[in-house]
Amino acid sequence: MSARGRPIVIAHRGASGYAPEHTLASYFIAIEQGADYIEPDLVMTRDGVLVARHENEIGGTTDVAVRAEFAGRRTTKVIDGVSITGWFTEDFLLEELKSLRVRERIPELRPANTRLDGTLEIPTLEEILALARGVEAKRRVRARELGLPPPAPLGVYPETKHPSHFAGIGLAMEERLVATLERYGYRGPDGHAFLQSFETGNLEALHRLTQLPLVQLIDAAGAPYDRLASGEPRTYADLVTPQGLREIAAYASCIGPAKSLVIPRDGEGRLLRPTSLVADAHAAGLKVHPWTFRAESAFLPAGLDLQGELREFLAVGIDGFFADQPDVGVRARDAHAAGQGPR
Ligand code: G3P
Ligand code: CA
Repeated sequence: MSARGRPIVIAHRGASGYAPEHTLASYFIAIEQGADYIEPDLVMTRDGVLVARHENEIGGTTDVAVRAEFAGRRTTKVIDGVSITGWFTEDFLLEELKSLRVRERIPELRPANTRLDGTLEIPTLEEILALARGVEAKRRVRARELGLPPPAPLGVYPETKHPSHFAGIGLAMEERLVATLERYGYRGPDGHAFLQSFETGNLEALHRLTQLPLVQLIDAAGAPYDRLASGEPRTYADLVTPQGLREIAAYASCIGPAKSLVIPRDGEGRLLRPTSLVADAHAAGLKVHPWTFRAESAFLPAGLDLQGELREFLAVGIDGFFADQPDVGVRARDAHAAGQGPR
């Protein structure tokens, strides 16, 4: 094992390779598969409740488009500089959102997940934390019965989505997020929770509110839009320079880069030589948790399966990673750790 410790496996949107993302079913599968952390992306309801969705527009992941009673809520908004037409969580009360049913985001790539279409609800952050706590309690009882040491705590890794947009409509996320996590015991620098965001201003606000470790997400240069924050002069390319990484270290303890920033691909999809990002981030005192590792061939580098792709990234020294198939992630991580010798 390296001196930096065992890399963590973060279940991306739950076990989203096996059940529709951001549902209690998806999180439960991830927990059972041995993920160290479960990842909810968070948005707000009109009545100020944090719920798990990848974006505030919910036409692509729920049945809202076929619900006649909500036809009048369809609208067009500019979100972080991008014009989007659909249905938005901030226009729904929690009770209304709870009446919707979730659908698989990418049915063409994950047809097996569609068996659950129409059966699952959008969960609140609180419901996800309660699930984690419930499983932990069950694991503790089981370990006691078997005379085993107490199990490792189950971590959560929430991401605030569009926090400037929500603050601008009177639904600021930061205090609600920290207060909810604290109610469930997630607090302090080793609080088994990481808080992540693409927006620097959001992370700086969280830095003033909590000692939980913060993660600056960094997209690849040329990503569709720059989500650092409105008015922020820096770009993602600025953040991955040694100077940019030192600036991040003032408020965060970790970066979450797009995986191509760690190992790029050539035009044929083959992995190229790693960049210096992991070494540069470590020199700045930052851990590195890249995203997103997915088993379907559409997402894989040429010539490798997911375990092989992860082997290459783990060899570079990453400290954890986001995976849609946490079981494969755990196997790859454990094989890597076994190859590194005892801690
Ligand atoms: O949070 C890590 C990764 O999930 C960031 O990208 O767009 O999948 O939330 P996204
Ligand atoms: Ca995310």
